[in-house]
Amino acid sequence: MISEKEQVMKIGIIGCGTIGAEVAKAIFTGTLPGYVLCGLHDLKEGQAASLSRQLNGGVPVSSLEPLVGISDILFEATAKAAMPDIVERAIHYRKAIVTMSVGGFVDRPDLIESAQARGVHLYLPSGALGGIDALLAGKEAGLNHVTLTTTKHPRSLHGAPYLANRNMTLDGVDKPTVIFTGTAREAIEGFPANANVAITLSLAGIGMDRTGVQIIADPECKRTKQEVVAEGPFGVIRTVTEGIVAPHNPRTGYLAILSAIAVLRRIASSTRIGT
Ligand SMILES: NC(=O)c1ccc[n+]([C@@H]2O[C@H](COP(=O)([O-])OP(=O)(O)OC[C@H]3O[C@@H](n4cnc5c(N)ncnc54)[C@H](O)[C@@H]3O)[C@@H](O)[C@H]2O)c1
Repeated sequence: MISEKEQVMKIGIIGCGTIGAEVAKAIFTGTLPGYVLCGLHDLKEGQAASLSRQLNGGVPVSSLEPLVGISDILFEATAKAAMPDIVERAIHYRKAIVTMSVGGFVDRPDLIESAQARGVHLYLPSGALGGIDALLAGKEAGLNHVTLTTTKHPRSLHGAPYLANRNMTLDGVDKPTVIFTGTAREAIEGFPANANVAITLSLAGIGMDRTGVQIIADPECKRTKQEVVAEGPFGVIRTVTEGIVAPHNPRTGYLAILSAIAVLRRIASSTRIGT
């Protein structure tokens, strides 16, 4: 019989910002059992070193390649542009990976097939979005259309390439204003730090070119609102998630951090709840 201790997985954290740090702390404090932290990696070494200090210096700062090599499972929370290379290495070394920067799949959709071909487990948390479980179930009967409407405070959208490329500023927005309508693929290009959920929804549903996205800037918005509508032979799914933003990063929802922790808890558990 395998003991609990033998089942503990060595996890490498890649990206020690808002999400990576909270996941590492959950493991370090024992809130999230089943894992032991074997290394921290960040493009900014000081960021990984600072997190290591917060974890009493017990977790080494590592460069990427050795960390992938020694880990049983990887947790990626870096950036859209950085994700494909990291996932590619995980696939090469046949290491399971939980990836948050799902926008990276827009440029490298082949990674999903590569992971499947090499038997590598690729986990994409739902993020700050409800409804993925029902959507996956509904997809078994077919999906006719899927839309996502995101309502955020303008400060959460600050710095998005879509706005910068059009010299758009949201400073004067004094009422709820639709600032973007398009496909999920166009949304992640224009809002790479905001639209990851659109890509997760697309991958779970009908793809990046058929999933419709609308982004609304609302200066009165206290909680980021994500509304999903999906329709198919099973009926209609309508979900509304209103989440608070992470304390130090207005672009990231607190629920996204919790979703990452929940996925890791599920991986370490023998019970699966939900689709
Ligand atoms: N899936 C979702 O629902 C969801 C929700 C929120 C955020 N995200 C995404 O998750 C990722 C992390 O979000 P966050 O809020 O923690 O961001 P953050 O900016 O707080 O932290 C990101 C960290 O990654 C590091 N980094 C950047 N490029 C790197 C690279 N090439 N190699 C190693 N480290 C690198 C940065 O230095 C930073 O410390 C982002 O891509 C974000 O868009 C996804």
